[in-house]
Amino acid sequence: MRVLVTGANRGLGLEFCRQYLSRGAEVLAACRKPASAAALCELLALHPGRLRVLPLELTDERSIVELARELDRNGDALDRLINNAGVLVSGERFGAVSAEALVQSFRVNAAGPFLLAQALAGALARGVRPRAVSISSSLGSIAATQRFGTPSYAISKAALNMATRQLALALEPRGVLCFALSPGWVRTDMGGPEAELGVDESVGAMIDFLERAGPEAAGGFFDRHGSPLAW
Ligand SMILES: NC(=O)c1ccc[n+]([C@@H]2O[C@H](COP(=O)([O-])OP(=O)(O)OC[C@H]3O[C@@H](n4cnc5c(N)ncnc54)[C@H](OP(=O)(O)O)[C@@H]3O)[C@@H](O)[C@H]2O)c1
Repeated sequence: MRVLVTGANRGLGLEFCRQYLSRGAEVLAACRKPASAAALCELLALHPGRLRVLPLELTDERSIVELARELDRNGDALDRLINNAGVLVSGERFGAVSAEALVQSFRVNAAGPFLLAQALAGALARGVRPRAVSISSSLGSIAATQRFGTPSYAISKAALNMATRQLALALEPRGVLCFALSPGWVRTDMGGPEAELGVDESVGAMIDFLERAGPEAAGGFFDRHGSPLAW
């Protein structure tokens, strides 16, 4: 099984790499700065030949296209795309929310994952039981939002949910299953040290669900255990 993980150098992305490697998969670890991805270098030493580190800047369309070309050049198949990379602008206050924060969040969290899945459609179509999963957030649920907070992030994750539904419909004829997952509140740089879950627990549950999910999951939004979340 070949798996591509974005935001692979730390946090949930790094743990996706670890767990898929320990399941015997070949992992393509995409990150902004491969040369300084120390944790991935350690994994490389542990899993020679099964881990490749590739550059990816999600706000740069050329970077996305180049990554997809790399796979297409060799006619490689991709079985799993984990659209994990994301950004959260903290400390936003109403009255001082900037256009830059809104636009940058949208580019990283919604446009980038959509464009990447689009660019990788050919490789995914060649995959076995191919799936493209968006790591979203309960903060992107419009129905669950009851207070003002992290607007750039919340708006961009709601957009990611729609991007995922659009991808599910576009890719279904090619046999690619797409859905969005919320990892829970997890101890990473983004989640902070007070978060309730460790990366191992969150990612373990997400992989269990994403590996067993069937066609009924197409275009859906789920918690890490596979229970549906309100849009
Ligand atoms: N942790 C939580 O509690 C939580 C809860 C709900 C949802 N999530 C979602 O889970 C995913 C992973 O979160 P995390 O907690 O692991 O976050 P994290 O520790 O902050 O890691 C974010 C990752 O995204 C990468 N990234 C940021 N901007 C990028 C860009 N422009 N191009 C490519 N990569 C970029 C970062 O790369 P650099 O190292 O180069 O910055 C890093 O690898 C995110 O989508 C997040 O929204 C997390």
